[in-house]
Parts: sequence; C-alpha cells; structure tokens
Amino acid sequence: MKKDIETKEDVVILVNTFYESVKQHQRLGYIFNDIAKINWELHLPKMYSFWGSILLDEQSYSGNPMVKHIALSKITTLTEVEFADWLLLFTETVDSLFVGENADVAKSRAANIARLMLHKIQNVQVL
Ligand code: HEM
Repeated sequence: MKKDIETKEDVVILVNTFYESVKQHQRLGYIFNDIAKINWELHLPKMYSFWGSILLDEQSYSGNPMVKHIALSKITTLTEVEFADWLLLFTETVDSLFVGENADVAKSRAANIARLMLHKIQNVQVL
C-alpha cells in the first residue's frame, strides 16, 4: 500500500527514481547528459533540498532555478514539448510511489513552477 511523502528518505526515493527515468528519456536525457553534462553527485542532493524545502518545510534549498533554466534555454531546445515530457514523467513517478496530500502538493507545485518557467523562458529577452 502506498503512503504519502513524509520523510527526507521519501524525498530521496522520489528524486532518485525521477532522475533515473529522466536519464533514460529520449529528449530529456539528451539535455541532462549531453547538453548540461550534469554532475549527478551535485545535482541530486540539490534536488533533495529543493523538494525537501517544498514538501517538508526543510528550508535547506537556496538557489535560483529560473535563471538556470533560462540560461539552459539559450543552449538547447526548451519548449512546451520538453516541459510536457518533464511534467508527465514527474507526475507518473509521484503516482507510482506515493499517494496523499504531499504527493498532490508535489504534483501541483511542479506543474505551477513548470508553467512559470516556460513563461519566463518565452518572455525574458535579456538575462
Ligand atoms: C523541460 C524541463 C526541464 C529541464 C530540461 C530541466 C533541466 C535542468 C538542468 C539541466 C539543470 C541543471 C542546471 C545547472 O546546474 O546548470 C536543472 C536544474 C534544476 N532544475 Fe530543472 N529542468 C526542467 C524543469 C524543471 C522544473 C519544472 C523544476 C521545478 C519544479 C526544475 C527544478 C530544478 C532545480 C531546483 C534545479 C537546480 C537549480 C540550482 O542549481 O539551484 N526543473 N534543470
């Protein structure tokens, strides 16, 4: 029986599972592996903090994801298509592992942030 996202360990499982799928995804994997050449040992802990701050009131994340993704959009294709892929994968990952209030918060926050990011990417002319 699935439970909600309640602990740091749950967040780690969510993030690890999500990025395992991202790595293998045709379009997204290419962006992370070949364009951004992600250092996973640095990226994953950052994402534990990001989601821990949103879901567990951890307040451990400090960073500016908007600026990072606007910069990324200058060197690769980052459109509705890629964001829809990202969001579908994230939603599927949450649903495959968890159920409950925090699981719903994770999905709705992801959708809101994705929408805002895409809006900024499409509208910010100069960084
Ligand atoms: C098509 C969609 C997306 C792609 C391809 C993507 C890709 C990336 C890449 C390559 C990085 C590393 C950037 C760097 O270290 O320079 C990154 C960082 C990050 N992404 Fe995304 N991302 C996407 C959507 C999202 C969404 C919707 C969220 C939030 C819900 C998100 C949250 C973050 C955060 C928090 C970081 C860390 C930023 C920091 O360094 O503090 N991303 N993303």
